[in-house]
Amino acid sequence: MDKIRNPFSPGAGAPPPELAGRDGVLEQASVLFARVRNQRAEKSFIMTGLRGVGKTVLLNEMERMARTEEYRTIFLEASDQKPLAVLLVPQLRSLLYDLDRMAGAGKKVRRGLAVLKSFVAAIKVSFGDIELGLDIEPEKGTADSGDLEIDLPGLFIAVGEAAEERQAAVAIFIDEIQFFTKAELNALIMAMHKMQQRRLPIVLVGAGLPILPGLAGDAKSYAERLFSFPEIGPLDRDDAVKALQGPVMGEGVSFEKSALNEIFTWTKGYPYFLQEWGYQAWNQADATLITLRVVKDSTIHVVNRLDENFFRVRFDRLTDGEKRYLRAMAALGQGPYHTTEITRQLGVERSTALSAVRSKLIKKGMIYSPAHGQLSFTVPLFDEFMRRAMPVA
Ligand SMILES: Nc1ncnc2c1ncn2[C@@H]1O[C@H](COP(=O)(O)OP(=O)(O)OP(=O)(O)O)[C@@H](O)[C@H]1O
Ligand SMILES: [Mg+2]
Repeated sequence: MDKIRNPFSPGAGAPPPELAGRDGVLEQASVLFARVRNQRAEKSFIMTGLRGVGKTVLLNEMERMARTEEYRTIFLEASDQKPLAVLLVPQLRSLLYDLDRMAGAGKKVRRGLAVLKSFVAAIKVSFGDIELGLDIEPEKGTADSGDLEIDLPGLFIAVGEAAEERQAAVAIFIDEIQFFTKAELNALIMAMHKMQQRRLPIVLVGAGLPILPGLAGDAKSYAERLFSFPEIGPLDRDDAVKALQGPVMGEGVSFEKSALNEIFTWTKGYPYFLQEWGYQAWNQADATLITLRVVKDSTIHVVNRLDENFFRVRFDRLTDGEKRYLRAMAALGQGPYHTTEITRQLGVERSTALSAVRSKLIKKGMIYSPAHGQLSFTVPLFDEFMRRAMPVA
């Protein structure tokens, strides 16, 4: 069928034609925005889930919602390249200048800029040429200790008070939050703790791979009290059907029931895979009914495409040792896997020798620990791919 009219949108962060099965978490966001806007306390939240389940799409949608609620929004994507402070400062700076231009009396916005200036001076990282305003003196003694866990809360308080003074509210969105270091996560958690205690109008919505198991002690218990952690998973059968059928119906086309079942069996409801199968099936079909036959014929194209793109790019970034480790996991089936089992599978005596490989793989976002002593793949169906890519373990 006409490739130009193909409604499906496989691709990182690409908004799907139908955002199926996410009403619960969208409602949670809408309540959060409305309550904080009305100076009521509400937990911020961090969505966690595997690769390709639709976290970025949700963050973008929530940013749009926050804007219609007249929030000022900040969107950050964490990576292993840039520290939190470097990502945050330019955005807070524009936010404060923005607030500065709004009508209203008071000194809190200027103070916010002064505190930002002392924050930048104290955190010893290179910010390039950020001009914070020559007429503003840094505020000595606030947010300038050089310790992020002390300074970030101080900075957030200053920004929160500035927003409050202008009757504005701020929503901070952070994607790939698992890339932050423990110290950065702790600092964010402490900063949000202050926002809640003081009812200041800043909310945080994060998304990423699960981070809680990596936190410990106070940080973990604060995080559990301050945030909720909605899990973003695969779609159930009904929602998967909606995600496929809805968009084609809009074009006067439909999937046969058995065709939908076939796609569900292959994709297990993972959003990214649903888009890929839908996309290829549409292109293969030559009539307005997409049949089981068409889907079966598309599957080979989809699997090739996934192997060549989605899976392969991740595989190619691995060292031989890392590949062997993942292959040993895959040999054990679907997971989660006990580290001791993986060690045994590799034929190694003690797992301490493997802990370096393991932490590299976690750093690269290939695996994560869903519970103590356990590991899982972050990419759905990666175990099957590993068995295809390396037939012998
Ligand atoms: N609710 C949904 N229904 C149908 N398709 C969806 C849904 N959510 C996301 N998708 C599709 O899934 C794909 C992946 O979405 P997205 O990039 O947001 O995932 P992600 O969780 O951020 O992945 P990653 O962890 O790799 O960044 C996109 O093609 C998107 O269109
Ligand atoms: Mg994403």
